[in-house]
Amino acid sequence: MADDMTKTSLALAHSQSPIPFTMPVTLPESVAAVHSFLSSNPRAFSGNGVQTKACQAALSSVFGYNNPLLTSSCTSALEMAALALKAHLGDAFDVANPPVVICPSFTFVSTTNSFAKYGFKLRYVDINPDTMNNDESAIEAAVTSEVVAVVVVHYGGVSCDMARVEAFCKLKKLILISDAAQAIGALCHGKPLANYGDMACLSFHDTKNCTAGEGGALLVNNESFLPDAKIAREKGTNREQFLQGQVDKYTWVGLGGHYLMSEINATYLLPQLVGYAALHEHRLALWQRYQDRLKALEARVGSDVFRCPSIPAYNQQNAHLYYVKLSDNTARVALRDYLRTQGIESSFHYTPLHLNPYGVKTGAFAGDDCHTVTEAERLLRLPLYHALQVVDVDRVCAAIEAYY
Ligand SMILES: Cc1ncc(COP(=O)(O)O)c(C=O)c1O
Repeated sequence: MADDMTKTSLALAHSQSPIPFTMPVTLPESVAAVHSFLSSNPRAFSGNGVQTKACQAALSSVFGYNNPLLTSSCTSALEMAALALKAHLGDAFDVANPPVVICPSFTFVSTTNSFAKYGFKLRYVDINPDTMNNDESAIEAAVTSEVVAVVVVHYGGVSCDMARVEAFCKLKKLILISDAAQAIGALCHGKPLANYGDMACLSFHDTKNCTAGEGGALLVNNESFLPDAKIAREKGTNREQFLQGQVDKYTWVGLGGHYLMSEINATYLLPQLVGYAALHEHRLALWQRYQDRLKALEARVGSDVFRCPSIPAYNQQNAHLYYVKLSDNTARVALRDYLRTQGIESSFHYTPLHLNPYGVKTGAFAGDDCHTVTEAERLLRLPLYHALQVVDVDRVCAAIEAYY
């Protein structure tokens, strides 16, 4: 199919500007805020100053999040969650027989690296192909006495049924942590997705719905984790207590990292958090345009050949990404290469971690892998970012329609 079209395709591609796969949000308000911050001669650019506190206040007031701690990345937030979990287990953390964390294999490496780094063992479970996230039944079947926590991922701002997973974790006395890197602004059963469970981690990387360049936040729903999370963010010290006048000098009291976000990054981020509604509306309109046009194609060619995403009724998603699923990896490579001839960049996503060299060393898959590998190999992400316009989405859809 692609071969027949190559000549015309190449000619067309040269006449149109390229559509990149992703671009960071660059609001004029963010740029102006950074100029104004720098020219006001701030006494410090480092972390945990007024800009950080303003972002944290916006995460609470605009999104309804609990106890937000701004961090240098989602990876940092996940490491803080792992450290707070380790502190919570105390002497029950037996190095000779490490506690086990349940997680998906179809995820970014930071989800698992953060727990493996601090000595936890990983137990990968299968995904539900409809959400690309941990399958609820697979989580329930994988629990044994060594399991201390469940880590869920909200792929593309869509989740598994968090009410079910949360109720199960409460029943089994398991800690529930969300990798909500892609889920800012998304809801589940009408409640902010990141408010389920004990802790959740957001990302403000360049590719995310709101960006600080690099950045993230740990959201602490279970306040018993808050003191250890703050210690983890301040390199293992009680500096936060010192800054609040609660101790007269600060000391090394636990394990930690350098997880604060610079005030310059926080300044860039703040206008996007405050003005989130407009960002959200634009992204949803782009997502819906893809869905409306490509659903018609799916109906024409069949969903085994070309499948659009489906959003569970319990989710109000945040249009973080738009992907399609093709019959297999060969079909996916062919469409990606064809789109490239049209000046359109598309992208694969994660390679299942349980098959990665370090994934093999740090954990094992529980139950059957019915969907993780096959679904990962079918998935192709299409361009979706703030600077994209409906006319660009139409061009991507037209190229795909022509291909089929
Ligand atoms: C699911 C998931 N978790 C964690 C991360 C890491 O985020 P960060 O780059 O902010 O550390 C990403 C990054 O894309 C991600 O997709």
